Amino acid sequence: MWGGRFGEGPAAIMREINASIPFDKALWRQDLAASKAHVAMLGACGIVAGEDALAIEQGLSRIGEAFAAEGVPENWDLEDIHMTVESRLAELIGPAAGRLHTARSRNDQVATDFRLWVRDAIDQADAALIALQKALVNRAGEHADSVMPGFTHLQTAQPVTLGHHLMAYYEMLRRDRSRFADARARLDECPLGSAALAGTGFPIDREMTAQALGFARPTANSLDSVSDRDFALDYLTAAAQCALHLSRLAEELVLWASQPFGFVRLPDALSTGSSIMPQKKNPDAAELVRGHSGRIVGCAVALMVTMKGLPLAYSKDMQDDKPPVFEAHGLLGLSLAAMAGMIEGATFQTARMRQAAEFGYATATDLADWLVREAGLPFREAHHVTGAAVKLAEQRGVALEALPLADLQAIDPRIGEGVYRALSVDASVASRASHGGTAPAEVRKRVAEALAALENEA
Ligand code: ARG
Repeated sequence: MWGGRFGEGPAAIMREINASIPFDKALWRQDLAASKAHVAMLGACGIVAGEDALAIEQGLSRIGEAFAAEGVPENWDLEDIHMTVESRLAELIGPAAGRLHTARSRNDQVATDFRLWVRDAIDQADAALIALQKALVNRAGEHADSVMPGFTHLQTAQPVTLGHHLMAYYEMLRRDRSRFADARARLDECPLGSAALAGTGFPIDREMTAQALGFARPTANSLDSVSDRDFALDYLTAAAQCALHLSRLAEELVLWASQPFGFVRLPDALSTGSSIMPQKKNPDAAELVRGHSGRIVGCAVALMVTMKGLPLAYSKDMQDDKPPVFEAHGLLGLSLAAMAGMIEGATFQTARMRQAAEFGYATATDLADWLVREAGLPFREAHHVTGAAVKLAEQRGVALEALPLADLQAIDPRIGEGVYRALSVDASVASRASHGGTAPAEVRKRVAEALAALENEA
């Protein structure tokens, strides 16, 4: 395709290092769509004769049928998907095929194809995020009243509800979705027609191709258009942040499924056994989601470093933009689907969770708050008194509410009978009814809002 000025063909190693067809064949649908839009425009603008434009358009359709049926052939001599399509077109329709590449370059072609691919990837990620959000919200509604220990430093802190805990992840995924939506909005400009780097002397209509491919408008600067990969980086950084969230949920599932915690049984279908220890049921899916997050972050870093310091406009380094995006997309899709399956199929051990909340002195703050509210102590003093009560309960190996009133009054005579109402984990969670708090009534409000928001999406 470009051999006119060369005395000899490429060395074997040149063919190999240069070939992107092994991975960029994934762009074949986008490449055909962009070529169809381009040739329709060339025909409409009188740059290519009507019958040639029609022949090219029909040839591209036949190539699409062939690729869908037989896959994309991988010939390293043809380098990439763009030349693979063009050479097949020449076989099908003859010399008129050569007119397709008028007023464009592979540089604007690949930038356009890849944007179209990333746009689809964003839509797929959003759909998978919605599915996981739905799973979380449904389980949260079911467990708006289920009490569990809330942790800071992974030490029992205050009782919370499982519904509240699950809704925390709903919020993270809501932000992930908005990051993907931002990426999609910024990507919404079409680079096609920027040609190699400087634009073209042919009287093309860039509005027409932009519109045909579903973009809001053509890009404004041809140099930027062929050298910009921000859309891929926006996708990858959104994916990386989403993967970080998934890794935290995965870690909690691993922890909760362990025998010392015993907070959850994961579905058999998403667990594995041990080849030597018959009693084992391992949370491998959760561990792999946790592990995949590292690879997804690695993909984002890989493309950032590839782009760092590249002069304008196109350089072949940029051909390496695609593998990390393809890899991250595959890993994220798997992670989101596995996580949705685990959340849907999890059996939460609510009795065990409640017991853990009751035995970790999780209502100590409630005792201190009661001393402030009912006995008028300054909070610092109440904190001190409560510390003494926790120490005594710990010495005896009992829960706070198991300490007799006389013993509590020996610590501070201002403690009265009413304190026991504050010491139950149910009273504790019910009292935290501030906006966004863990009270079951609040959690139910948030669940209802989330369901309405997800309903509007559908
Ligand atoms: N396969 C190339 C890529 O993915 C297409 C662009 C080639 N452009 C060029 N000037 N050689 O980046």
